[in-house]
Amino acid sequence: MTPAPSPQLLRAAEAVLRGNDRGGYTLPSADLYPFQWNWDSAFIALGWAACDESRAWRELETLFAAQWPDGMVPHIVFHGRAGRYFPGPEVWRTEREPPTSGITQPPVAASCVRWIFERARDRTLAEAAVKRLLPKLFAWHRWFHRLRDPERLGVVHIVHPWESGMDNSPAFDAPLAAVPVEDLEPYERRDLEHVPPEQRPTRLEYDRYLALLRVFRDCGWRAREVVRQSPFLVADVGVNMILHRADRDLLALAREFGAREMVAALEEWMATGRQGMERCLRDPETGFYHPRDARRGLRLAASTHAAFLAFWAGIGDDLLARRLERWLAATRFGLSSVAADDPAFDPDRYWRGPVWAITNFMIAQGLEEYGRSDLARRLRADTRVLIQRSGFREYFHPQDGRGLGGRAFSWTAAVLLAEQAG
Ligand code: GLC
Repeated sequence: MTPAPSPQLLRAAEAVLRGNDRGGYTLPSADLYPFQWNWDSAFIALGWAACDESRAWRELETLFAAQWPDGMVPHIVFHGRAGRYFPGPEVWRTEREPPTSGITQPPVAASCVRWIFERARDRTLAEAAVKRLLPKLFAWHRWFHRLRDPERLGVVHIVHPWESGMDNSPAFDAPLAAVPVEDLEPYERRDLEHVPPEQRPTRLEYDRYLALLRVFRDCGWRAREVVRQSPFLVADVGVNMILHRADRDLLALAREFGAREMVAALEEWMATGRQGMERCLRDPETGFYHPRDARRGLRLAASTHAAFLAFWAGIGDDLLARRLERWLAATRFGLSSVAADDPAFDPDRYWRGPVWAITNFMIAQGLEEYGRSDLARRLRADTRVLIQRSGFREYFHPQDGRGLGGRAFSWTAAVLLAEQAG
């Protein structure tokens, strides 16, 4: 058993949040990501809830204030000056105020709202905040189900790897390779000023990321047009699992607040979502979940830790738990984002091998609910040990535990605080 984090470590976690707080929103990391990021803010709110509930609600409300009229919640909100970030508002050109990116991120917010609501000490504050957030969360989920499931398969699609939150995951290698990059304007990356290149996506991946942005800009950021024109259209495992749980959590809130129209829609999305994942993403032989490339109409072979989010989604099973045990046995620290015996495994590079505190958090919570508290404990203990040894880093090396990527990283600090608060 790993001892609980010391009061000192918890104070240090809070100091990370306070240091990245810009009043109403929190930077993921001051050097690398100097604005508000969508799913970062949702996790960060969990951390705030452990030390300052009203600040937690404010984090979420600031994010949702940037929601688009069609319901989408953008993946970056560019508060303040653009600073030295690339691609900044001048590349996105979405014509929003405050400026935002034009794509979304995993919809984990409803689950975080429910988490905070159920633990809130200030009930009046919590009820008022949930009342305000409920219709906005619902509009975002409706946007996903209506606009991102063009073939009515029951699974939602992403048009850019950044929408998965797991940017350079091997899940996207094949569909991204098909994205044409001709005549790309020259550009300069800024991420490499802060992090060594072997810990970040490659140049070719970056070219394709920007080529996609150009397509969407040419569509005037109109949601249906973007889906029609995007050369990249993937039913991502992580996004579908996260949306499935978020639908469930939103349904619980909608019932509690007597929002009847929402209840009916959410029940339907949960049923179609479950069938869709079973039909389109699950390999019937192995029981593992894989992404589906809608442009080629096939399920891809790539295997990543996103499949274990099935536990978070409430659809994990023993087959998956056994696979998780094998996956964990192959590295010193878990859970690696790609299995150590997979040819795509690259233990230093971002979403191709390193351990991430937020995915550990979600999968551990799901395992606990599934009745595998032994595995949940293992994941939580690994997160804690990694933070204790290497600090609040963006991600960690699964073999030697080295801290990688950005430093003083908000969501790493936030999930430690959230787990401690229970
Ligand atoms: C990277 C991650 C993404 C995260 C962002 C800010 O782009 O891949 O998931 O939201 O950094 O932390």
